[in-house]
Amino acid sequence: MAVIAVTKERRAGETRVAATPETAKKLAAAGFEVVVEAGAGAGASFADADYQAAGASIAKSAKDAVAKADLLFKVRAPEADEIKALKPGAFVAALLNPYNEKATVEALAKAGASAFAMEFIPRITRAQVMDALSSQANLAGYRAVIEAAEAYGRALPMMMTPAGTIAPAKVFVMGVGVAGLQAIATARRLGAVVTATDVRPATKEQVESLGAKFVAVEDEEFKAAETAAGYAKEMSKEYQAKQAELISGHIAKQDIVITTALIPGRPAPKLVSAAQVASMKSGSVIVDLAVEQGGNVDGAKLGEVAVTANGVKIMGVANLPGRIAADASSLYARNLLAFAELFRNKEGQFAPDLEDEILKAALVTHGGAVVHPQLTA
Ligand code: NAI
Repeated sequence: MAVIAVTKERRAGETRVAATPETAKKLAAAGFEVVVEAGAGAGASFADADYQAAGASIAKSAKDAVAKADLLFKVRAPEADEIKALKPGAFVAALLNPYNEKATVEALAKAGASAFAMEFIPRITRAQVMDALSSQANLAGYRAVIEAAEAYGRALPMMMTPAGTIAPAKVFVMGVGVAGLQAIATARRLGAVVTATDVRPATKEQVESLGAKFVAVEDEEFKAAETAAGYAKEMSKEYQAKQAELISGHIAKQDIVITTALIPGRPAPKLVSAAQVASMKSGSVIVDLAVEQGGNVDGAKLGEVAVTANGVKIMGVANLPGRIAADASSLYARNLLAFAELFRNKEGQFAPDLEDEILKAALVTHGGAVVHPQLTA
């Protein structure tokens, strides 16, 4: 019986886990033997006993769990000792952060592992249920608004009281992908007046359908700014300058700005300059979701809240999905549960078909080498 191992995440602040008792039970029912390292679910409030009740066995250490694994499930890339403990030819699936953690990808290749980066799951209909970028970005967008609301010293909704009326907060969302859409929806639910911008024209209608207003330079370049895969292109210097001018006047009037803009394989685009931050009112809050990819906001620091001279808080919260660990783990674990199905053939045996469109697109190391075209080019 093929073994799926799940170990405790070791990165600082990583609270998520790659399987939940719910998915462990389903993996076991599908014919996998599931081994979970003791304490792996603690950060997300899942107890060892619940995994056991679901049919998993508990391993004392990561090494014990990994040594048996045909397939290792992780949230983040495995650590050096886990890679060392892998059986040659073992499979690994994790958010490998492959563009930034090249040394780990190399180490996985050297260890003879076949590793899949969940980030590279293609955005095709069949793979939607495995789309970990989306499942995590959705929760990050929600959580960003909660963090901003907590840091903002005023209310978000309009409130009419005998002592007077409180104006609703103005929230501006920059980058309207999965995270941005959820941020808009959450800010709207909290009663804020919401505007949003993106370089992909398809987002205009999505923003409006959520009851927010769209703000962007809508020229010819904008009309062609979406790749076939649905991602943003890097915009020209000219477009960025025009957009910055339009946005400048707008940002100065905002109470909360949430930035989520990413370009796959590239550093995050700079969208908010120090001068724009300086134009905002004291007490305003900026949450930069792209901070782990270099940041959209001048002055954003990973893991820190920077307060500027004019009293603006720039929040560079690391790992927002990890702040909603139980739900983030549940969704991620279900992404992996669906992914695990690809490792079984029609007869139910463990026989991953590496020519399968999804496995092929996500495979980054195989046969001792780094094999993904976007990492070898
Ligand atoms: P992302 O995380 O790569 O980027 C976030 C947003 O930032 C994107 O909307 C992008 O256009 C925007 N952005 C980039 N540069 C910018 C700039 N200079 N100024 C303003 N905004 C900028 O994007 P995400 O969330 O991964 O979504 C990308 C697309 O994929 C969306 O169209 C989404 O609906 C689509 N998608 C499709 C799925 C499918 O299975 N068909 C599943 C999930 C998402």
